[in-house]
Amino acid sequence: MNVTIFGTGYVGLVQGAILAEVGHHVVCVDVDDNKVEQLKLGIIPIYEPGLESLVKENHAAGRLEFTTDAVAGVKHGHVQFIAVGTPPDEDGSADLKYVLAVAATIGEHMERDRIIINKSTVPVGSADRVRTEVKKVLEKRGRNDIGFDVVSNPEFLKEGSAVVDCQRPDRIIIGTECDATIDVMRELYAPFNRNRDKIIVMDVKSAELTKYAANCMLATKISFMNEMANLAERLGADIEAVRQGIGADPRIGYHFIYPGVGYGGSCFPKDLQALIHTSDAINFDAKLLKAVESRNKEQKNTLFQKISQHFDAQLKGKTFAVWGLSFKPNTDDMRDAPSRVLMEALWTAGAKVQAYDPEAMEEAQRLYGSNELLTLCGTKETALKNSDALIIVTEWQNFRAPDFEFIKAQLTEPTIFDGRNLYEPRRMVAKGFTYYSVGRTK
Ligand code: UGA
Repeated sequence: MNVTIFGTGYVGLVQGAILAEVGHHVVCVDVDDNKVEQLKLGIIPIYEPGLESLVKENHAAGRLEFTTDAVAGVKHGHVQFIAVGTPPDEDGSADLKYVLAVAATIGEHMERDRIIINKSTVPVGSADRVRTEVKKVLEKRGRNDIGFDVVSNPEFLKEGSAVVDCQRPDRIIIGTECDATIDVMRELYAPFNRNRDKIIVMDVKSAELTKYAANCMLATKISFMNEMANLAERLGADIEAVRQGIGADPRIGYHFIYPGVGYGGSCFPKDLQALIHTSDAINFDAKLLKAVESRNKEQKNTLFQKISQHFDAQLKGKTFAVWGLSFKPNTDDMRDAPSRVLMEALWTAGAKVQAYDPEAMEEAQRLYGSNELLTLCGTKETALKNSDALIIVTEWQNFRAPDFEFIKAQLTEPTIFDGRNLYEPRRMVAKGFTYYSVGRTK
């Protein structure tokens, strides 16, 4: 099938690559010249396991093309994905200007029937706005004879496992009430829908809300666990034991109940805010969502509070080793990362940071440039040198079993603030460390 994808961000690029891999002919359109040229050379702007080779191979095979030519894009695909960004407005609502601009472009240049697929995470009602926009432009052109449908088909990929998530989706949500569209969508996704039927068809608004409900539910689980961890610390209980104890109940399950330094990334914080905004706009007080968000904001400060308390608020002139800058492992993404809240608080308090991350060093450089309070170190070992304490913010695999004697020898004081519960508190004490974790006192 001929497929066009507008937007070569996380969602668009991964989607394009996996659709091309199964044999569809995909044209990816982006307004960024530079990005398109790089993609043609096989240079991927993000770190995502497996993506680079998929892009290179399919581009070489001619099944995956990159262009800035929107007109050619509209001409190419019977299905037209909209996968452009929806950055939050100042007030937290999702800004649809890029989505609507693509809708207008499609309306402007389509000469035959098209299926327009909203893949970006957009508020309930957005598909209707896309429909109205396309219709308006077609009317202006006097081309009401051209038919089209707008489908909501949200994406559920996770950064760090985006390729695998897209190739083996848990479910494929299709929001439309048009039977012909359902047939085309089934054909498009057939290669990913083999063992069991993963396609769930519903109305457009329910599909749009499903995306937000999924992310908000997961964020709720995390904030709930962070709240329990705070309680456990104060009550003298061990959140790790509690986690195992509740996870064993299949109604609760083990996924997404790890306490930590708060959720970050480009999705949870933004989507929570957007749904709260949607609720406010219809005069519905989304009490639970607001609590989830506020718990998360506080949680991002807990590491700093522990550090400040440990050093009696005397952080000026101190140096801290920070392991982990990305918002989670296997990505270089630092959007809304807890590491940023922590480092910025440390700097404000006059402390220096020596940071290491396996993938996010370039991103940190881009964000903070030549900041005299930040030294970006080439290895996790060099970050430790002459630091007053070690702070762990992201649970990268190679932080899990470090050489503790080496760490002790490098630090001026053997203290670790662990925001991800990587080690066993009892063992750390036995090794001679002062060890702070999340929700564990024993
Ligand atoms: C999230 C969802 O998991 C995807 O299903 C969704 O498609 C995506 O948003 C999106 O809307 O595009 P992602 O942001 O890549 O994916 O990352 P997650 O793996 O969900 O992690 C989010 C945050 O939660 C991270 O900061 C992570 O450290 C934190 N987290 C996760 C916890 O603190 N505890 C947990 O138990 C799990």
